[in-house]
Amino acid sequence: MMEEFCSANVENESNYQMKKLKESIEMIEELFDNAYHGMVLVNEEGRIVKWNYEKLLGIKEETVLNKRVEDVIENTRLHIVAKTGEKELGEIQKIQGHDMITSRVPIVKDGRIIGAAGTVMFKDVKELKSLALKMETLMSTVHKYRGEITKFYEAKYSFDHIITKDKHMIYLKEIARRAAESNSTILIQGESGTGKEIFAHAIHNASLRKYGSFVSINCAAIPKELLEAELFGYEGGAFTGAKKEGKLGKFELAKGGTILLDEIGDMPPEMQAKLLRVLESREFERVGGTNLIELDVRVIASTNEKLEEAIQKGTFRQDLYYRLNVVRIDIPPLRDRIEDIPLLVTYILESLANDLKILPKKISDEALDILLAHDWPGNTRELRNTLERALNIASGEVIRWDHLPEYLMKYKKVPVKPDEESLLLKDIVAKAEIEGIQKALQVCGGNRTLAAKKLGIHRTAIYKKIEAYGLDISMLDGDEKKLCRK
Ligand SMILES: Nc1ncnc2c1ncn2[C@@H]1O[C@H](COP(=O)(O)OP(=O)(O)OP(=O)(O)O)[C@@H](O)[C@H]1O
Ligand SMILES: [Mg+2]
Repeated sequence: MMEEFCSANVENESNYQMKKLKESIEMIEELFDNAYHGMVLVNEEGRIVKWNYEKLLGIKEETVLNKRVEDVIENTRLHIVAKTGEKELGEIQKIQGHDMITSRVPIVKDGRIIGAAGTVMFKDVKELKSLALKMETLMSTVHKYRGEITKFYEAKYSFDHIITKDKHMIYLKEIARRAAESNSTILIQGESGTGKEIFAHAIHNASLRKYGSFVSINCAAIPKELLEAELFGYEGGAFTGAKKEGKLGKFELAKGGTILLDEIGDMPPEMQAKLLRVLESREFERVGGTNLIELDVRVIASTNEKLEEAIQKGTFRQDLYYRLNVVRIDIPPLRDRIEDIPLLVTYILESLANDLKILPKKISDEALDILLAHDWPGNTRELRNTLERALNIASGEVIRWDHLPEYLMKYKKVPVKPDEESLLLKDIVAKAEIEGIQKALQVCGGNRTLAAKKLGIHRTAIYKKIEAYGLDISMLDGDEKKLCRK
């Protein structure tokens, strides 16, 4: 009984092995028939044992079997390879007037050469050339798009763009410059408009990653359901509404470069957990994907809320905070470094004039005094906007106190004297006109048509005078402002 069982088992096993062998042979036959443009096998004497060049050379297998390969194929070296055992890859061989690209490899068994195989990879060099051309075109397209992407995700600022003479700021620039050289995660904290983004740009540009992209994402501006896909990308059809072909996430776009996670304090708790996992394992998956992608970016996180307070409130994870807080840059608000204001004013006026393609303007002492007295809740951004507005209003070469917005007028020292007091009749007339027009505009709630009527002048005359005197237009409505600035 036992014996019978054993012999049945042996039979099953050998049937199985036979089946496997047959399948393998079929696979090899299939490969032989379909791989490349043709294939020939010779034995150790260089005689043909298998032929698949019928389509290519128009010669049937039965007519060439067992013949010497050099008598059948022009310029062949297969019989030589079957002797030397040295493979020859990608050689040009002239056959039937065509320069074909061929390869010859020896077949070795138990350390002994038992034959050689020859294949035609390209029927003509022209085929290879056209493939090379295709590749070149594809590569140059890829290159072009890569260039476009890098341009799009480019860091514009360097440390030279951070203007300061404040000791602490100079120290922070030094810390940032040193941190730029490493790959450490950096946390930048500071009120809105203090220059967090400009610091992040500068760090990227001073690092070894400067040739990679600088990608920034505002964690507060993206709905929480979309944030994961924005950060990590998704595979096609990962969720309803997803693009068919999938989408690269910001972490992949920033590969080799830097990612700025702006307003990190507003990141939803689930994403905080995922980000922590990713930063720790240094790999991630796309949404709906299974492949692990290596994290090859420097992470800079920035926030204008104090994360320590968010941790106390329970809205920010302490472990993520520790992970991000490797190098810390706390930018002081502008009101704590007022000696920077004159320097920033000069710098901003020059750069704005440059952007707007106008001649640079100076600022009067009275106007600067007002700027020095303000506490700048919007920091350098607010200062920049104030100066841009003043530049638009001022028609002369100097920005005067009355070119500054109304809300800063409370800092005006009383009694206020005009900056350039002049006894020239034309200046006295101009001053009277300015006062008259401002009063009329005030009375008419900024409506210049009505104000012109009140003043007894034509509507176009008031437009011209407002522009000529560079009058404060903050009280006017949107459309009128545009007209006035044009
Ligand atoms: N030290 C500085 N020197 C020159 N320009 C500066 C400086 N700090 C800030 N700026 C300018 O002020 C503006 C605001 O800066 P930035 O966008 O970096 O602020 P932020 O801290 O990221 O603000 P937010 O929190 O609102 O995003 C920019 O135009 C920037 O160029
Ligand atoms: Mg910012």
